[in-house]
Amino acid sequence: MHFDAALDARLQIELETITEAAPSFAKDVLAGLSANPKTLPPMYFYDAAGSKLFEKICELPEYYLTRTERAILQRDAPEIVARANGEMALVELGSGSSSKTRLLIEALIARQNHLHYFPIDISPTILAHSAKQLLRDYPELLVTAYVADYDTGFRRIAAEHFTQKLVIFLGSSLGNFEPQQAHTLLRNIRQQLNDDDYFLLGTDMQKDSRILHAAYNDAQGITAAFNLNLLRRINRELAGEFDVDLFEHVAFYNVARSRIEMHLRSKTVQNICVGRLDRSFHFAKGETIHTENSHKYNLEQIKKICAYTGFRLVQRWQDNRGYFSLNLLAPA
Ligand code: AVI
Repeated sequence: MHFDAALDARLQIELETITEAAPSFAKDVLAGLSANPKTLPPMYFYDAAGSKLFEKICELPEYYLTRTERAILQRDAPEIVARANGEMALVELGSGSSSKTRLLIEALIARQNHLHYFPIDISPTILAHSAKQLLRDYPELLVTAYVADYDTGFRRIAAEHFTQKLVIFLGSSLGNFEPQQAHTLLRNIRQQLNDDDYFLLGTDMQKDSRILHAAYNDAQGITAAFNLNLLRRINRELAGEFDVDLFEHVAFYNVARSRIEMHLRSKTVQNICVGRLDRSFHFAKGETIHTENSHKYNLEQIKKICAYTGFRLVQRWQDNRGYFSLNLLAPA
């Protein structure tokens, strides 16, 4: 992408901040496929192919999450940023394409004329690409992008930048963490916040399980392709020998745990060799690999999360149907 010097001066990319304990695909695949029941961590969905499929998911008629959150931001972004007292910086955990974030960027620029935006993401390509597009569109913007995991990236930002901050975590991404991990993440973020900072958390809400089921079992099969891409990724990167046609996508709502679970189910008895792991893995017919949980919340749970992690709930914004909510949290 052509990029001129004037825009370049407003962009800084901090590349060196990837966590010391960088995750290893090979190690995690070995551990996950050796476990009983088999699992694979959902963070590995997002290679180049998986990220493209996820963008398609966000446009699907059944996948109401992105559209609903965007509509809330379209209506309420000015009110959400109204707590800025002078100069508020915007920090985003897992910024991806930053497309919904634009609504908050515009609201903040309208309020304070300029904005320092700190996106944190593990993909350097997506970070650079979206930062450059934002800088083209908003001359009042400065971007310092962190290629890092959330904890490491935010610790650096908090240590080096002292203006008031609005930290955002959109898309109900928190829902993909196990409850204990989610608490640890929020506690770590809370520890780095100052008293006048805010944390905006997007959460998908509990609803009729047919709507949830449809959102993760779309008619075009994009979510199935997204799930199965994990096997393709093992084939590409670890010399795996999965026949993807011999597995099927399974997604259902687990009411007791208020979460959508995604699995990959073996259609037959098979042994799969993964060359780079020097191992083969046995699958019984019907055996599954658990690939993702996507927790769905109610107000009580959001309040509990706040209580466990040192936050207070300041204000919430929802769509008319109550499908999705944006929760403004502040240090308790
Ligand atoms: C990124 N995350 C919030 C999505 C979700 O809904 O849990 C990932 C996803 N999985 C299947 N469809 C979308």
